[in-house]
Amino acid sequence: MQCEIRPARPDDLDALLAIENTAFSGDRLSRRSLKTLIGRQTAVALVATDDKAVAGYAIVLLNRLNRVARLYSIAVAPDKTGRGIAGALLRAVEAEAGERRRVAVRLEVREDNRGAIALYEKNGYRRFARRENYYHDGMPALRYEKQLGGIEHGERP
Ligand SMILES: CC(C)(COP(=O)(O)OP(=O)(O)OC[C@H]1O[C@@H](n2cnc3c(N)ncnc32)[C@H](O)[C@@H]1OP(=O)(O)O)[C@@H](O)C(=O)NCCC(=O)NCCS
Repeated sequence: MQCEIRPARPDDLDALLAIENTAFSGDRLSRRSLKTLIGRQTAVALVATDDKAVAGYAIVLLNRLNRVARLYSIAVAPDKTGRGIAGALLRAVEAEAGERRRVAVRLEVREDNRGAIALYEKNGYRRFARRENYYHDGMPALRYEKQLGGIEHGERP
């Protein structure tokens, strides 16, 4: 699949919101939150475009005091799934986090989100914790982590 990945711009907001509203059934980011995240210095928002149209996005938080990056959200338009777009976004997120000297990427995923769990496991993310009652409907979150630069937990660099 040929998709291009670039930083999100303010004029992507409509497209991001449309993806958010069709890809998620709850716990959606609002237009206002998306706008703030796009402009935030401690966040990187990336979009994947397919023939210039925004097909997916990923937002990663890069807290200055934390060497672990947090994948805050990732979504692909439902009519563009299954073509490797989320995988490409994950690789771009990891590259961006690595360039900014982060040692790992962490994320939370709903325990019932089999597609996303398969995506993360296929891309080398390792489950390290579970949080009860994490989402608005009480669903637990599974926490995943991927070490960057090929350094595994417990291994010396
Ligand atoms: C989860 C999501 C981001 C996957 O996007 P995608 O572009 O279809 O993912 P990819 O095509 O890159 O998939 C890569 C791998 O992930 C796994 N995968 C992705 N979606 C899957 C699904 N629905 N069921 C099973 N495996 C899935 C597969 O192993 C796939 O590899 P394969 O196609 O070679 O089998 C997309 O379905 C989505 O936006 N879902 C709604 C929002 C969401 O749940 N975001 C994650 C929140 S934590």
